[in-house]
Amino acid sequence: MADIPVSVQEFASITVSTNDPKQMDMFEAADELAILAAAIAYHDSRYHGADDPVISDAIYDRLVARNRDLEAAFPNLIRADSPDARIGAPVASGFGKVRHARPMLSLSNGFSAQDVTDFVIRVRRFLSLNDDDELALTAEPKIDGLSLSLRYESGRLKQAATRGDGSEGEDVTANIMQVDAIPKELFGTPPAIIEVRGEIYMDREDFLMLNETQQADGGKLFANPRNAAAGSLRQKDANIISGRKLRFFAYAMGECSAEIAKTHWDFLATLANYGFAVNTLSKLCLTVAEMLDTYKAIGDVRATLSYDIDGIVYKVDRHDYQGRLGQVARAPRWALAHKFPAEQAQTIIRAIDIQVGRTGAMTPVARLEPITVGGVVVSNATLHNEDEINRKNIRIGDTVVIQRAGDVIPQIVCTIRNKRPKDSIEYRFPELCPVCGANAIRPEGEAVRRCTNGINCDAQRLEWLKHFVSRDAFDIEGLGVRQIEQFNELGLVALPADIFRLNIRQQEIATLDGYGEISTRNLMTSIDARRTIKFDRFIYALGIRQVGQATARILALHYDSLDKLLTAIAPDADIEAAAAELMEINQVGELMASDIINFFLTQKTRDMVIDLASEVTIIPPDRPAHDSPVSGKTFVFTGTLAGMSRAEAKARAESLGAKVSGSVSAKIDFLVAGANSGSKARKAGELGVTVLDENAWLALINK
Ligand code: IVH
Repeated sequence: MADIPVSVQEFASITVSTNDPKQMDMFEAADELAILAAAIAYHDSRYHGADDPVISDAIYDRLVARNRDLEAAFPNLIRADSPDARIGAPVASGFGKVRHARPMLSLSNGFSAQDVTDFVIRVRRFLSLNDDDELALTAEPKIDGLSLSLRYESGRLKQAATRGDGSEGEDVTANIMQVDAIPKELFGTPPAIIEVRGEIYMDREDFLMLNETQQADGGKLFANPRNAAAGSLRQKDANIISGRKLRFFAYAMGECSAEIAKTHWDFLATLANYGFAVNTLSKLCLTVAEMLDTYKAIGDVRATLSYDIDGIVYKVDRHDYQGRLGQVARAPRWALAHKFPAEQAQTIIRAIDIQVGRTGAMTPVARLEPITVGGVVVSNATLHNEDEINRKNIRIGDTVVIQRAGDVIPQIVCTIRNKRPKDSIEYRFPELCPVCGANAIRPEGEAVRRCTNGINCDAQRLEWLKHFVSRDAFDIEGLGVRQIEQFNELGLVALPADIFRLNIRQQEIATLDGYGEISTRNLMTSIDARRTIKFDRFIYALGIRQVGQATARILALHYDSLDKLLTAIAPDADIEAAAAELMEINQVGELMASDIINFFLTQKTRDMVIDLASEVTIIPPDRPAHDSPVSGKTFVFTGTLAGMSRAEAKARAESLGAKVSGSVSAKIDFLVAGANSGSKARKAGELGVTVLDENAWLALINK
């Protein structure tokens, strides 16, 4: 990826890659996911923890969307610290902590009409609805404030908490008690316990007035109404907050001791009866067209509203549907935030460079005259590949338009031809690797040109070493990207095993810039601490093309030890049998199997593994605990289930710790056969696999 930001300061000018995930290899994607995880965590802490964001919401959304796209394209690479599994930032110090009775979720984003259509199709499919079955959704303005959870017991406000990381927020009860717009006592007959969630925000006008006062008093100026609301909420002196005009829209439910509505629409009406402000622009829609009309209508009045909104939130109206749809990672499947488009900007391409990734993929990167787009300075943009440069007729010196193209990722949309200078330079894509000079080949039908030199290419080898020491791989304290670059440059580390032999070069290291005897010794200690490593981590660290953490784990569980793996895939072994064995493993397809086999059969990488293994002790991976009747079991679903779609059944099984496979073999534990199940059920019967009908399946999961 372009210009990997290695320090947090650099995240402020992060460029969101526009590389098509389909054209990327696992290594590039893993690198980019690592950067995204670090960058999003950093911006979460700026936004939620410090109330002092350094990038615009639009850029943040692009980072999150990009992360999600990459995770969708490379599910094996989903990181343990995936931003999608976290929400917001940990609680700031100074306020007590509150554990949310129900997690405070975030929302998936969409940017185009197509995203909205796809969302509704997904929901309908998940719920197995027929075309003529009604599916109502609400469309509400997405308020640009902070989410807040208010807990009422016997109708009285007991606790107010910020979202925090989604599971745990800050106790801001004392401050909220001073906010007039929030009811302290509810009207009507609310249930004994109800948590009402919504957005706390400040009107634009009140924000401007606050800043005027702040300026006069020499206080801190706020960048926008949202920051002003956040800063006010975090006042340590609860008295100050009563002078700040905070407002609140209620829109969601947390814990609730009794059912108060069957639909979201009715729930909103009930909230209004309890005394909450609910947004009156919201609409109940029955079709995608109505949803898009609402998006347009509210978008049209957006500038005239007294508060900032940044999109429309669609929610499936029926609560029972919401329950069935559940959530994926941090966002409910039943809701979508349809964001308003972000800015465009013009800038000049100063140069085009080639970056060589871990698998040799050559990516052209446009070096731009730095420009602010949606609040962030952008100085690089990925140009995908050579076709993209030709298609857009891009020359060095051109003025280009940068935009978030209808949907997710910022792109160079076009060049502005009448601004093309006389001395603009046409770009010729190199046919040799700019790093090692080897042939770079672009296979027929592929868009990516790759250096063919494997780990003999310094760029590829270096990227590969960086992966080796990365956090989910060997994760050696004090040996990060910068040190690897330095040691590689000095010839101290060329291949992974060299890291474990650095102890014989301690004297040399101690003389390097930034090192002394003590830090050298510390480094040796942290290297030694990683001489024992779990087998799954070891496999992941090898950086085999397409093998992410999840696959590494599956391989480790399957082969049990490196010896067994190296025996199964060896130059003198039956390669067809080895491939067949790999492909029987759930989630390993033909291409991945061939990459794995290639890796262990290529002499250089095989030698490298054996050499490395002589330096470390590999211990078995943790085996999954068996705490639900289906955990660790493998299921295949076939035919039509009456009560739920196959997607829902699959999600249920996985949430209970089971694996789901697409094909029937003797290795699966259960086949769940709905109506018209056909050949799979027959085959399962023949193989002696337990076949469950829908009732037996339901009984099993409800045990
Ligand atoms: S519903 C389980 N509705 O947007 C769903 N959220 O990007 C919870 N937001 O964390 C959220 N207006 O802070 C919902 N009408 C609305 C909203 C809204 C603003 C915020 C909320 C949420 C964030 C997600």
